[in-house]
Amino acid sequence: MAEEKQKWGSGGEGSVVVVEPKPRNGLSSKVVDFVEKLIVKFMLDTSQPQHYLAGNFAPVTEETPPATDLLVKGFLPDCLNGEFVRVGPNPKFSPVAGYHWFDGDGMIHGLRIKDGKATYVSRFVRTSRLKQEEYFGGAKFMKIGDLKGLFGLLMVHMQMLRAKLKVLDVSYGTGTANTALIYHHGKLLALSEADKPYVLKVLEDGDLQTLGLLDYDKRLTHSFTAHPKVDPFTGEMFTFGYSHTPPYITYRVISKDGFMHDPVPITISEPIMMHDFAITENYAIFMDLPLYFRPKEMVKEKKLIFTFDATKKARFGVLPRYAKDDLLIRWFELPNCFIFHNANAWEEEDEVVLITCRIENLDLDMVSGTVKEKIENFGNELYEMRFNMKTGLASQKKLSASAVDFPRVNESYTGRKSAVHVLDAKTMSTDPVAIVELPHRVPYGFHAFFVSEVAAEDPVKVVQTSTLMHNSKLN
Ligand SMILES: [Fe+2]
Repeated sequence: MAEEKQKWGSGGEGSVVVVEPKPRNGLSSKVVDFVEKLIVKFMLDTSQPQHYLAGNFAPVTEETPPATDLLVKGFLPDCLNGEFVRVGPNPKFSPVAGYHWFDGDGMIHGLRIKDGKATYVSRFVRTSRLKQEEYFGGAKFMKIGDLKGLFGLLMVHMQMLRAKLKVLDVSYGTGTANTALIYHHGKLLALSEADKPYVLKVLEDGDLQTLGLLDYDKRLTHSFTAHPKVDPFTGEMFTFGYSHTPPYITYRVISKDGFMHDPVPITISEPIMMHDFAITENYAIFMDLPLYFRPKEMVKEKKLIFTFDATKKARFGVLPRYAKDDLLIRWFELPNCFIFHNANAWEEEDEVVLITCRIENLDLDMVSGTVKEKIENFGNELYEMRFNMKTGLASQKKLSASAVDFPRVNESYTGRKSAVHVLDAKTMSTDPVAIVELPHRVPYGFHAFFVSEVAAEDPVKVVQTSTLMHNSKLN
């Protein structure tokens, strides 16, 4: 072991961009702060409680360095060597005004399991955004929770002003890395869909270190979804980004060796939020769903900047996955809906099958700090959708009536046919193999991942595994 703690969870560090933003705290910074204070004082609607900063949504204020030899009730199997990592929003600084659940700084909670022992750690992903807010000692970046009504428009201008005056350095992006984790080309990546991937190193003792961000040798110039797909047979990663300027969607293929191929613009009529997509052996599936980026409606109708249009159809685009442009994309229409997450997709003769969590009548405000009761009625159901490549027809059927989201499949079957088992959670065994006592509270978060250590000839080799561990183990 060298001076630095030995690592095992992240391979080559070449091509990682070290994030060193240069914010400026001068007169212009103070003037913008003052203007912002006035806007907040006179225009912010403070009547709504900040639900997503309360209870177990509330952030933890401190990181936890590796806490070793945690009390284990039961036993951790010898074969389970690796680190369970879960990322979620954890705002380091109190918001100046609004707060949406999607806004918090990415914090990773890790449970290192080795030789039957458990170590807990929590670390912020050290994004450009977090580093700059630490420099100022307070929140400075725009939040989704602010983007409502005329107030939202003014807050957009505060962000633009800070960037223009170089108070904030936006050259490394403005993302939070708070949404999901994936492992590709020897690197553990923390992702948020408005930015580039951040690269993390897992140290031997379980600690997590942010190395920087990935721009694929400057080939990545747009945002990168939090839900790229790794083909388990080819080792390629398929991804996309969305933007409020054309092309609204850009599709990318990254080869097994980490090379990002040329951008493929996907033509759609309006800018949207596209949280996930899917791949099969031969296709990539894009979802043009009517959650539109409409700043004018935000101001006029006091809505969030992304508004759901219930009058539009849901559109699904199926593109040969190595296409160089979108000339061969086939679009299919289904009844109006929104989808955050797909479970999997595959091909069956002439049909492309998508298993997905479908939501009717989405209100994005239901996951903001204001509409607690709505989240309890979050009506997302498991659906099977079929797109017939020969006839051009699409169909769908409901697989489960109960609320389903954040699906996980055995990743050895990504893009390939896998059976869907819908289980009655009430009859599953409630006896855990082991319960690890954690030294600190873990707030609710988003997606989790298990990075497995393979104790083969090469002890630093890690693979993405299909091991499923439920979030609640950390909740
Ligand atoms: Fe997600």
